[in-house]
Amino acid sequence: MTDTQDRVVIFDTTLRDGEQSPGATMTHDEKLEIAQMLDEMGVDIIEAGFPIASEGDFEAVRDIAEVTQNAVICGLARANFKDIDRCWEAVRHSERPRIHTFIGTSPMHRMIPNLNMDEMAERIHETVTHARNLCDNVQWSPMDATRTEHDYLCRVVEIAIKAGATTINIPDTVGYTAPRESADLIRMLLERVPGADEIIFATHCHNDLGMATANSLAAVEAGARQIECTINGLGERAGNTSLEEVVMAMKVRNDILPYTTGIDTTKIMNISRRVADVSGFQVQFNKAIVGKNAFAHESGIHQDGMLKNPLNFEIMRPEDVGLSATNLVMGKHSGRAALRAKLHDLGYDLGDNQLKDVFVRFKELADRKKEVYDDDLIALMRDAGSEVDDHLKVKFLRVICGTQAPQSADLVMSVDGVDHMVSASGDGPVDATFNAVKQIFPHNAHLKLYQVHAVTRGTDAQATVSVRLEEDGRIVTGQSADTDTVVASAKAYVAALNRLIVRRQKTGTDQKEITYRDVVS
Ligand code: KIV
Ligand code: ZN
Repeated sequence: MTDTQDRVVIFDTTLRDGEQSPGATMTHDEKLEIAQMLDEMGVDIIEAGFPIASEGDFEAVRDIAEVTQNAVICGLARANFKDIDRCWEAVRHSERPRIHTFIGTSPMHRMIPNLNMDEMAERIHETVTHARNLCDNVQWSPMDATRTEHDYLCRVVEIAIKAGATTINIPDTVGYTAPRESADLIRMLLERVPGADEIIFATHCHNDLGMATANSLAAVEAGARQIECTINGLGERAGNTSLEEVVMAMKVRNDILPYTTGIDTTKIMNISRRVADVSGFQVQFNKAIVGKNAFAHESGIHQDGMLKNPLNFEIMRPEDVGLSATNLVMGKHSGRAALRAKLHDLGYDLGDNQLKDVFVRFKELADRKKEVYDDDLIALMRDAGSEVDDHLKVKFLRVICGTQAPQSADLVMSVDGVDHMVSASGDGPVDATFNAVKQIFPHNAHLKLYQVHAVTRGTDAQATVSVRLEEDGRIVTGQSADTDTVVASAKAYVAALNRLIVRRQKTGTDQKEITYRDVVS
């Protein structure tokens, strides 16, 4: 890459659009941690949240604005003064604040606030002017732009520019566009809208048809200079453009995509894993760049080709995205220093106390499992991180299962430090265990997802279990890994309940949060 190449600005919305995926809610500390990782990896703009949505969102945006060093910190606001004022209150703590305000401009979306074209144009003028009076850096988005009439889109973009917007984002809110159309739209706006050459056009694509990354890159080729994306493509429905995909595409195919970004790509794997951990959304094995199989070669022909020259079957080096080239297997004789070094390679830098805890868990695992692979350690770290603020804890579990029904579970679980013991039966060992948890901690949450997968191979492999629960519109997930699938299931269920308790405390049991989904549906 050379200095003469155009710089594309990376706008990460993992903490706003990504966090809106049902079940992906992160705690305050987790959001701060991810924001700092984004800041360190060179993301230009972090959309930290939607401050009016809840007190928790507001505080997260404000604190992220305070702690980050480099990135512009942006908050989302609907097209009204109250949202914009609240957003400003949160982002103004940053050295580089941005207000991002939006309204749905397509025929269907205009019906939501019930505004005709002229009334909406007036609202856009008023709200962008208001935002610009508060902040020098204002982004405006015509939501559902790709289904908005072209003449009207040109008209409202012109109004927003005249009112002071410095970035105009063109969202493909429902993942409806295709690469050529995505490029044509940006080209049309650059040609037709007065003042278009003085602002930055952004592209914001959803992945409903699997074209988000291609659509974003096509928009860049047509003149957009900001890509909105999320780590692992996290986001509503099929998700958003993946940060790692667009950044690596521009790096690997710089011959045909001659753009630079400020991203340190060696930090990609680390942040991808952390986002998967805290959001509860596992990365699909065959996902580009960050999937478990992205650099795995199993067929004989491929393995032979790789040994002769990695370039035969790899278009980028694992190290380029932060994957360690060595694959040292750990076992029960491995010491603390080896564990620390290994975890460092995997992107986890632990303090002495944390290492002490993790070492105990590692030894327990190594006693049960001959070889502890990278993925086992990642699962172990995920479990270690999930025990913060635990109200409920699984202390003891014994299950009787087999061909003779009913299966039963004896469980000791502590609730705020007090141990309770019950026995329950059920249709299978997991059902019996969940019934036991419910006896000790009665609740009305519905089980929305129960998923098990083996972390590594072999009958002694750890199982990672994910549980998603829903209670009064709140969706939470829990995950756990253990060589015993039923134990992992119990811990994942309890981890989800712990998150639910925190959500209840934050929002009050009957106070509903405003979500982006309330805005669009
Ligand atoms: O997808 C979308 O339209 C959005 C807007 C709020 C920019 O996320
Ligand atoms: Zn979006």
